[in-house]
Amino acid sequence: MRVQGRDTRSIRLIGDVGEPRWPEIIDQTRLPHEIRMVRLSTLEDAERAIRHMQVRGAPLIGATAAYGLALAVRKDPSDESVASACRALSATRPTAVNLRWALERGEEALHRTPVSQRESAAFDLAERIAGEDVEICRSIGSHGAGILRRMAAERSGEPLQLLTHCNAGWLATVDWGTALAPVYRAHRDGLDLHVWVSETRPRNQGAALTAWELLHESVPHTVVPDNASGHLLSTSRVDAVIVGTDRTTAAGDVCNKIGTYMKAVAARDCDIPFYAAVPGPSIDWMLGEGEAGAIPIEERDGREVSEVRGLGADGTMESVRVTPEGSAVANFGFDVTPARLVTGIITERGVCEAGRDGLLSLYPERAAPRRTGP
Ligand code: MRU
Repeated sequence: MRVQGRDTRSIRLIGDVGEPRWPEIIDQTRLPHEIRMVRLSTLEDAERAIRHMQVRGAPLIGATAAYGLALAVRKDPSDESVASACRALSATRPTAVNLRWALERGEEALHRTPVSQRESAAFDLAERIAGEDVEICRSIGSHGAGILRRMAAERSGEPLQLLTHCNAGWLATVDWGTALAPVYRAHRDGLDLHVWVSETRPRNQGAALTAWELLHESVPHTVVPDNASGHLLSTSRVDAVIVGTDRTTAAGDVCNKIGTYMKAVAARDCDIPFYAAVPGPSIDWMLGEGEAGAIPIEERDGREVSEVRGLGADGTMESVRVTPEGSAVANFGFDVTPARLVTGIITERGVCEAGRDGLLSLYPERAAPRRTGP
């Protein structure tokens, strides 16, 4: 997508043809105040980038892990090195299933590849995973934009009002995004729309990242505190809620950023459609009916709750404390919205009902149980 008028991706290989190439990311901990590109040179760089959320968002975590594995293989292509790199990367962030998906795919492919060819095979695979993600998100954009166009047709010339949570835009993927891909597609096609962006405490991915993306794509938007969503929904200021996912079970239960469930409950109470944009690699086919409780919910550093981070008056990033010294804090990263509250799941293969039958209608090859993968 566009930044300052230039097409940009959240991760890409840099370097001259014939020379070793390196993945380069946008350090998302510096946004929206600074666009800082960071080169990943080692497995440890990739691990750190995921753990400290220089890259984040389920699909981008998966793609970065694939590049991290390639960097490990460049240093040492042995079986032991591949296994230990996969272990290290999979320990970085537990909830997004794309991480496990990318690493299992990488490990499987590398074990079938002679050691002498593993470096190029690992980089080719990382590039393939990144390229596939772009196409998956582009396709989610087309399917989702169809829904938005149909909803807009029922309105009388007013802009379509959408509400989103966290950042499920192109920064959370390689390009386009999931929940924001339909917004970008529809906006580029001329649909009049406006996005309410919930700030997404404690890390403010909505206020910092989604707002920044929308600003650079010239999409009309307004940032609101998370607590405003119920009011917006109950006063007819929202036509549809659209979010991404870190892991969706085969039964259609949607795990996403903490706070998503509350929005789904309020949307249902107000009879407003609630959509989840779900790329195939974010579906955990191992988890079926009643098994969403097995999704590991990341618990992060309490300082993200007790402090607020932002740009200080002197132009440097700083944190200030908001809770009293000594108060306990808890920082759950994600929650699960049960399928019954989800109006529809938008995938790269089309839109379906949230549930096993709906998902299997789009992914019939999954009717027979298998471990993971698209
Ligand atoms: O903790 P984060 O910023 O990695 O959480 C990201 C989200 O919850 C997104 O909504 C999700 O990954 C969907 S990304 C297209």
